[in-house]
Amino acid sequence: MSIHLRYRNVARGEPFFPPESGALEAFLNRPLQVGSCVVPKRLFLAPLSKLGNVAFRQLVAGFGGFGALFSEMTGSRSVAAGGGPAYSGFMWRKAELPHLVCQLYGDEPEVMALAAQRVAAHGFMGVDINFGCCVAAVCRHNCGAALLKDPVRAARIVAAVRKAVSIPLFVKFRTGWKDDVTAAVDMAGRFADAGADALTFHPRVAPDRRTRQPKWAYIGRVKSAVSVPVFGNGNVFDAADCQRMIAETGCDGVVLGRLAVARPWIFAQWTEGFRPTEDVYRSTALDLIDLLIGHFDPPTALRRYAKFAAYFAANFKFGHFFFSLVHKAKTIDALKAAVSTFFDTTPEIALRPHITMLR
Ligand SMILES: Cc1cc2nc3c(=O)[nH]c(=O)nc-3n(C[C@H](O)[C@H](O)[C@H](O)COP(=O)(O)O)c2cc1C
Repeated sequence: MSIHLRYRNVARGEPFFPPESGALEAFLNRPLQVGSCVVPKRLFLAPLSKLGNVAFRQLVAGFGGFGALFSEMTGSRSVAAGGGPAYSGFMWRKAELPHLVCQLYGDEPEVMALAAQRVAAHGFMGVDINFGCCVAAVCRHNCGAALLKDPVRAARIVAAVRKAVSIPLFVKFRTGWKDDVTAAVDMAGRFADAGADALTFHPRVAPDRRTRQPKWAYIGRVKSAVSVPVFGNGNVFDAADCQRMIAETGCDGVVLGRLAVARPWIFAQWTEGFRPTEDVYRSTALDLIDLLIGHFDPPTALRRYAKFAAYFAANFKFGHFFFSLVHKAKTIDALKAAVSTFFDTTPEIALRPHITMLR
């Protein structure tokens, strides 16, 4: 019996019983139709500004096991104006295009449509619209989650992008600015009606920067309201969380953010039976430095690595030590030496990353 069917039992008020071993892997490996594409697996990397950069995605791709990767959010104006790979949020490797979805933000339907056309012309697998970001720098310009206050305009943006491209169109959104599941369900319906091929739903209100628990039950409500696939997102920190999210909500797939930064092999671990050894922590920490300097100048590589380190540190009992060593390093050589020093003594690894460090 699939996890999805078991969810249906729960929905009928029948008792929930935990999925048998292997059920999660089987579910995540079930291909899923998203618009014109069939994605091979139902586990995706979330869009993560500055963290989900081209070098980090290359690291993840080295392990494999995901269905698709979302890019960092990218401003539609610069993409529409012809911003190319020099702009850091809009960088990619040719090899990843078949499974890379470019996330765009913006508030003008025509500009978003033009940007999406450029994304499609470059050969991306899909385009994603950001209606979830609530940082002031984005919302101040009426972009990201700010558009959830104006459902008509948000749906016009989706419709304009839909008209402009035939590649799969994703929409990522939050509950809204109030804790109102009815409004979130209404929004989901508008996005699907406007032509979205799949939704990623992060069930938190917009002002909440991940401090309170996401309300997974809302994912189930959104899933029941639309016929397009719905990906659940928010606070999946281990395989049991992932199973529970699928079983409790009936979502079609799961999008992982912070856990994937802490454990870039997690997709391969859950979908392909990859078994991480102690050494994978060390090699991953060192490999990312080389990948970053392959794509960025040294100061940018150092800044990107420091962001990654904050989440990677959550794996270790003495994670703060790792984090502070990385932060003190002012050159790439010093960074490599600092990371090597940390692993000179085998670190104690937590069964699941320390959530308090994953803010
Ligand atoms: C550092 C950071 C950057 C993020 N950047 C983006 C972004 O560019 N676009 C977006 O839609 N969401 C962004 N998010 C939100 C994540 O995609 C995701 O919704 C959130 O982290 C919850 O998922 P998780 O619990 O699996 O991390 C970001 C989150 C973090 C922690």
